[in-house]
Amino acid sequence: MNQTPDSIAADRQIGAGALHAARDAATHPHQPGAAVQLEDASLAIAGRRIWTDLSLTIARGEFLVVIGPNGAGKTSLLRVLLGLVPLVRGRALVHGEVPRRGHPAIGYIPQQRAFDPEIPLRGRDLVGMGLDGHRWGISVRPAAHRARVDRILDLVGARGYADAPIGRLSGGEQQRLRIAQALIGDPSLLLCDEPLLSLDLHSQAVVVELIARWSRERDATVIFVTHDINPVLRLAHRILLLTGARWGVDTPDRMLTTETLSSLYGVPVDVVRHRDRVAVLGVDVGGHDPVPHAEHGS
Ligand SMILES: Nc1ncnc2c1ncn2[C@@H]1O[C@H](COP(=O)(O)OP(=O)(O)O)[C@@H](O)[C@H]1O
Ligand SMILES: [Mg+2]
Repeated sequence: MNQTPDSIAADRQIGAGALHAARDAATHPHQPGAAVQLEDASLAIAGRRIWTDLSLTIARGEFLVVIGPNGAGKTSLLRVLLGLVPLVRGRALVHGEVPRRGHPAIGYIPQQRAFDPEIPLRGRDLVGMGLDGHRWGISVRPAAHRARVDRILDLVGARGYADAPIGRLSGGEQQRLRIAQALIGDPSLLLCDEPLLSLDLHSQAVVVELIARWSRERDATVIFVTHDINPVLRLAHRILLLTGARWGVDTPDRMLTTETLSSLYGVPVDVVRHRDRVAVLGVDVGGHDPVPHAEHGS
């Protein structure tokens, strides 16, 4: 999986917002087959600049990992691609089209919130909503619908607890169901917002493997926001770092160096490698969400 297509490896970009625009000339290759294109894209929320002049082409089948401190605009980037937030400048394209809500080719795993233990919803209801949209209380469930839900439940290994109240399941089990909900529409672009948050190591590995397998088998593009790079380090074709003032995108080997990260963060950062793990010292790399998440059971 770490075989980086040449087109991706060549697509090294470092941006510094409005400060300067020292990017290479190949910033905007016209790529009709690209999954996502951002061209000088700038985002402001409530009048405050979030990121500026972001230019990035994400190839079909690419696994892009997005890191950056809290508030750097990682979630907002996904929301732009979902057509939920407009850019203030520049252009975003998803499969060559302007982002729009409810795009059937996009699967979205939103940042995790624990379900209320009392919520009267089964796992299979949640997954079915991935097909039905977000309409509640569907009473007639055709056999085809049920078969499709069962198929995706089997794929993520959640069939065994799909009829239990979702609020009673462990964080890892809930997350598998969220993934099933995102995959049931057969997406070719998967947007994952910190899907490993609050999961134990085993559940993290399961979630990463499910998403990686989907990407491999479908040639699906993955944009994976995470606070910990290590679980996805071996899968990442490139890493996009958003720091607020600056951004950069490059292969993991070139991005995760003391020199590159110090320059992007604008403060001294130490990158320490130990065996196949990497630690970034001196800054908040990913930004944990302060919202508490229940993790009952495993
Ligand atoms: N609906 C909103 N109204 C006001 N500010 C918002 C809204 N959504 C996001 N923000 C702000 O925009 C910034 C980027 O948020 P976000 O994309 O969630 O960052 P990240 O996911 O990197 O932590 C944050 O400062 C956040 O508080
Ligand atoms: Mg976020």
